[in-house]
Amino acid sequence: MSAPARGARRARVRALAKINLDLRVLGKRPDGYHELRTIFQTISLADTIDIAFTRSPRTVIEIEDPLQLADNLAVRAARLALDTMGVSGRVALRLVKRIPMGAGLGGGSSDAAAVLLALPVLAGKFIPLPVLAQMAADLGSDVPFFLVGGAAVGIGRGTEIFPLPDAPSRTGVLAVPDVHVSTAEAYRRLSPRLTTESEQNKIFSFQSLASAGGVSETGCNDFEAVVMEQYPQLALLKKRLERAGAAPALMSGSGSAVFGLFRTRDQSFRARNALSGEKAVGISLVNRTRYRAMWWRALQEHIEQKLWPPPSRYAR
Ligand code: C5P
Repeated sequence: MSAPARGARRARVRALAKINLDLRVLGKRPDGYHELRTIFQTISLADTIDIAFTRSPRTVIEIEDPLQLADNLAVRAARLALDTMGVSGRVALRLVKRIPMGAGLGGGSSDAAAVLLALPVLAGKFIPLPVLAQMAADLGSDVPFFLVGGAAVGIGRGTEIFPLPDAPSRTGVLAVPDVHVSTAEAYRRLSPRLTTESEQNKIFSFQSLASAGGVSETGCNDFEAVVMEQYPQLALLKKRLERAGAAPALMSGSGSAVFGLFRTRDQSFRARNALSGEKAVGISLVNRTRYRAMWWRALQEHIEQKLWPPPSRYAR
């Protein structure tokens, strides 16, 4: 990638990973997607993205990406943002990936959301949150959540987001096995096992969890049954985390990452050591106040008005 042009407006942003504190799949919808009830939560693991924007008559989007993905979601997000703003210019993206792919941690989705949040600021344009949310949903089911971060309920395809109040931060351990799970494939395996009978129970128990603010020592993930059947080493990881005192210990999204949350830092630290031989990192939950502060710090030098981050339609 060539050096960013002179006169470019630049920002370095962090795109956080997510875990699902709870994930229930109710059934297949007429549009082919599945109806979900989930609780998303941002965590401290993050990619770093350098974004440079220069106005010019012709649009060119360049990316320096170690994974060399043919169809990078961040590039699609940049194109969509420029089109929506009616702005042309040169966008240079440099991606430092730390969030593993195919792990259920929303890495690609978070990168895309980060571009949707940062590029309008660098271009000096404002896109209202409902418009951003629609753009995000067009890019992927997990993308809208990263516009708000913290803990949030996701319903529908996972794109209808209802922020939950901040809870005290917790620490944990994230184990990332060398397994790449295809989300579409995981849904295909799960779909025939979903029954309407269990739907009512799922909604009921999910509602009690959500009304408790998403913070719980339990939680469930409907994908575990099918994905752990295919990759028994993930079930073993979950057991090891539980034995180390994790509450809950769960797979994230459609896997393959498995996380455990602990009551104390000390317990987290010991659990991480106990997982010797596995790829595991210490994590902490990042609430919305911290998420917004992080975004504010990254972009404040470019922000001309106080209306940022875009206020939620639920904000009072
Ligand atoms: O929306 P996204 O592109 O991330 O979804 C990837 C795939 O996962 C979809 O093509 C679909 O097969 C499946 N999916 C689903 N129901 C959802 C979300 C995703 O069936 N709520």
